[in-house]
Formats: sequence, C-alpha cells, structure tokens
Amino acid sequence: MSTKNTSRRAFITDAAKTTAAVALSATVLPSLARITNQKSAFSFTSIPYKQQPLPYGFKDLESAIDAMTMEIHYTKHAAAYAKNLNEAVVAEKVDINAVSLEELLGKISKYSPKLRNNGGGHYNHELFWQSMTAKSTMKPEGKLLSQIEKDFGSFEAFQTKFADAGKTRFGSGWAWLVINNDKKLIIGSTPNQDNPLMDVSELKGTPLLGLDVWEHAYYLRYQNKRPDYITAWWSVVNWDVVTKRFEAA
Ligand SMILES: [Fe+2]
Repeated sequence: MSTKNTSRRAFITDAAKTTAAVALSATVLPSLARITNQKSAFSFTSIPYKQQPLPYGFKDLESAIDAMTMEIHYTKHAAAYAKNLNEAVVAEKVDINAVSLEELLGKISKYSPKLRNNGGGHYNHELFWQSMTAKSTMKPEGKLLSQIEKDFGSFEAFQTKFADAGKTRFGSGWAWLVINNDKKLIIGSTPNQDNPLMDVSELKGTPLLGLDVWEHAYYLRYQNKRPDYITAWWSVVNWDVVTKRFEAA
C-alpha cells in the first residue's frame, strides 16, 4: 500500500479532519478536495481495494449465518473477488491511488467483464460484512427510521419490500436499500455482482444496505429456503453502520 493511499484512508476515517480539510482543499489542494468530496467515506460507504478484516468472528453471526458458511464465504468467495479485482486493475491500468472503487464502478461500462464482476463482487462483500453485527439493535432510530417510515409507510413494510426484492431476484444477486439523488430511499435488486453504483445498473443510488442472495451465502444451513435466510438475517443487521452511511450520503 502506498504512503499516499495509507494517508488518504487514515484521513477519511476522521470526520472532523475531513470537514476542515475539505474547506482548505477547495482552494489549496484540488486533488485532495476531489477525494474528500466523495459522497462516501471509508468505514461507511467507501470501500478500499483490499479485503479488510472481518469486524467479528466466523461464529458470531450464528443466529443467522453458520460459521462454516461465513468462513468459506469470506476466505474463498470474497477473497477471490478481491484477488481478481486487483489483477484486473493492474491489467487495465487503473491507478487505484487516483480513482476510488466507487468512481471506478461508476464508469464500469468502459472496462472488462472481469473488472465489472470482481469490482462489484469485492465492493458488495465488503459492504455486506460491515452491515452485520452480533449485537443488532434490530431497527434504526432517529432520522433514518423517520425516512424509512416516510418512504415505505412503516419499518415493517420496508422489511417486507426489501425481503421481497431478495426473494424474487432470479438466480444470483443482491437486494439493496439505496438513497438516490433526490434523497429518497429506494429498494431494488441487481443481478450477479452488479450494484447501484454502476453505470450499467438500472437501480441507481448510494448503497446503504445490501443483502447477498447468492446460494453460497446461505445454502449450507438453508438449502433452497432463501426466504428463511432473509428472515433470519434481520437479526444481524448493523443499523448503526447503515445510519452512518445514510448520514454521509
Ligand atoms: Fe457472496
């Protein structure tokens, strides 16, 4: 990892420093302004190109996902997406110190299927790991809850619509809660490893919550019962992280 990249990530994790630096960078450091003005910030919605450590153990989400599934999913499936993404950015001469993964996905139509599949695969899984916790509050509070109730009628109606998006995604893909450019919450799904940041995606917006509905995410415990996996998954959603993404969007 380059010094520039390391300093960029350390910088972005500190919201107070970010706010101050954006003001400075607008006149002094244009390139820094470009980075810090991204809608997303690492820890919440900006994803590094490298696979990050899981924020919990493989066994910790047993209420919804068994340890073996977690281990295989993280160390085999997701690790392969990260490895293949990093191969592809080298082969296709993407300067990862100058272009964030979110920016790259926003113009993914200009790149290969390998970059699309693995860039999406890596982003989606990193977002997914961060979106779960062993200590879920079970539902959000404050402004996020208010907006969910405004846009979907109730939290329960939101959960039903989100679950339906996951249940009805044919084959492999993801269910999403996104916030669009009009600051409205939208639910939808994407095929394969596509996501709402991609210029090729029909569903567009900033991802706040994503659910992996590939069979590799649930088959050991749930077999063909994807709806049971989705129902159980609500017990491990990290609403604190989703709220921070919502506030940063
Ligand atoms: Fe997956």
